[in-house]
Amino acid sequence: MAKESNAGKTFLDMARERWSVRKFKPEQISEEHMARILEAGRNAPSACNYQPQRVLVLQSSETIAQMRSITHWAFNAPTILLVCADLTESWKNVDGCDSAEVDATIALDHMMMEAWECGVGSTWVRGFDERVFRREFDLPSTWKVVAMMPMGYPADDARPSGWHFKRKDVQELCRFI
Ligand SMILES: Cc1cc2nc3c(=O)[nH]c(=O)nc-3n(C[C@H](O)[C@H](O)[C@H](O)COP(=O)(O)O)c2cc1C
Repeated sequence: MAKESNAGKTFLDMARERWSVRKFKPEQISEEHMARILEAGRNAPSACNYQPQRVLVLQSSETIAQMRSITHWAFNAPTILLVCADLTESWKNVDGCDSAEVDATIALDHMMMEAWECGVGSTWVRGFDERVFRREFDLPSTWKVVAMMPMGYPADDARPSGWHFKRKDVQELCRFI
């Protein structure tokens, strides 16, 4: 089920149809598609427009191998985004709320959806130990690791997991008050 470009689809179509891709073709994401994906993240909203998201783009054979050696969630993706938030650059509210993780999450969601429009599959991953990543990639102590996202063109035999088809009804999730 290789995805061709989804250009021309509505956002709602893509939100409904997108699924987590966990098996990829070996070919690298084109420069044009990669630029579009990063541009989508760059334009994400953030609290006070502070833009604390920091995105490491892993594509070299060394960094991909390094990632695969510390987590099985890298799958066989040719590109992995490691998305962090710089806690020194995020908005803090009087109640203690720090927008860092939310801001980075919105940026990553923008990138995931733009990737899908380009025909690039991905999976949002948080099933890793942040402490190991911090050590392995020598991340600044002020950065919070928010998520990683293996991505690439879906393998011909990639399929959605069963979870993809289980969505709660809108009545269960939303209430008009
Ligand atoms: C915060 C978050 C953490 C996730 N962590 C993982 C993960 O560690 N490994 C994985 O394979 N998928 C992970 N996922 C993907 C979800 O399992 C997936 O989005 C969900 O089951 C719905 O399936 P779909 O994306 O195919 O529609 C994560 C998703 C989110 C939003």
